[in-house]
Amino acid sequence: MLSQKLPVFNKSVTVSNKRVIVRVDFNVPLEHGGIADDYRIIKTLPLLEQLRSGGARLVLLSHLTEKKEHRSFAALVDELNRIVGLGMVFAKSVEEARQNGADVVLLENLRVFPGEERNDVVFAEELSTLGDIFINEGFSQSHRPYASIMHLPKLLPSYAGPLFYEEVMKLEEALNPERPFMLVLGGVKFATKVGVLEHFMKTADKIFVGGALANTFLAAKGHRVGASPVEKDAFEYVREMFLNSPNLMLPSDVRVGENKTLGIGNIGERDVVYDIGPASSDALGRVLGDMKMILWNGPLGCVEEGYGQGTANLLSVLAATKAKVIIGGGDTLAVVRNQGLENRFYHLSTGGGAMLEFLAKGTLPGIEAILDNTKD
Ligand code: 3PG
Repeated sequence: MLSQKLPVFNKSVTVSNKRVIVRVDFNVPLEHGGIADDYRIIKTLPLLEQLRSGGARLVLLSHLTEKKEHRSFAALVDELNRIVGLGMVFAKSVEEARQNGADVVLLENLRVFPGEERNDVVFAEELSTLGDIFINEGFSQSHRPYASIMHLPKLLPSYAGPLFYEEVMKLEEALNPERPFMLVLGGVKFATKVGVLEHFMKTADKIFVGGALANTFLAAKGHRVGASPVEKDAFEYVREMFLNSPNLMLPSDVRVGENKTLGIGNIGERDVVYDIGPASSDALGRVLGDMKMILWNGPLGCVEEGYGQGTANLLSVLAATKAKVIIGGGDTLAVVRNQGLENRFYHLSTGGGAMLEFLAKGTLPGIEAILDNTKD
């Protein structure tokens, strides 16, 4: 088990009077220039507080990207300080962060520096001058092969943070799940989900595919999905790899425009499928009732356009089940948090892409980098 090999930061590591670099994931959703969801930030607080009370000075590293554009942390520092409460000071360059004597320094969005995405070892070396110890607490970012994830951990004594460790440990459980085990997969892009589907096709007792993803599956199966967007390039692969499996469940009915319910087979040429229908929710609910462990990623419908019924039905079944439930993905988490249900489940992953990649491959570049570290 990878989690057993990971060096995890703990109280026996002396941090007093040391500068600790913490790779966090403050890449949070923004709304009107402010923080729309602080879940990821809040999850890093226990480590940051522990380090501060142990006498460490902190340098925090993260990226912040909105709709593919890199944002500056400068405008967010006050809001972040209200959440984090550690009086952090913003530094716009590595040099400025090095010179700054503050107890907690937040470096500018890492991706503003070209070396980060180039996975440049020279940039990682520059970052390493900011501290004596490195801790990766940004699991949700650790699928990216970038300098702060891949090189920096090899340049200093490095540890996984407690949240990072918990993510690896809990997701490892899903890789060797208690049976019966079910995967519920929604969302949009086939390419981001295919690895997980491939993996769990071999091991899951049941797999339900919903969301826009289901339209591609239904269309590949020969059903009419009207004007719903589908990924034609994936049809052949879907047919070959997935459609013959007796464990695969697809919606038997759907909701189209104006929340009209239609059975598969009755979808008109102009209809757009926005959600799974009530019969599909019932069928899914019945199967979920037999499970001991459930993994869910991706909304089952277009929640942001008012088609949230299928997702809400799923959520209420999951909130009531005794099974171990693991949930991940940015949009999925937002639904869970909007309902105030975040404490009801076995594990809520902070990772979207990172969770999917970990489940598909069993490891991440950020995990391997910490394991490769030979400094102590
Ligand atoms: C996320 O939001 O899932 C992570 O922070 C990764 O962000 P990225 O897709 O911009 O790398």
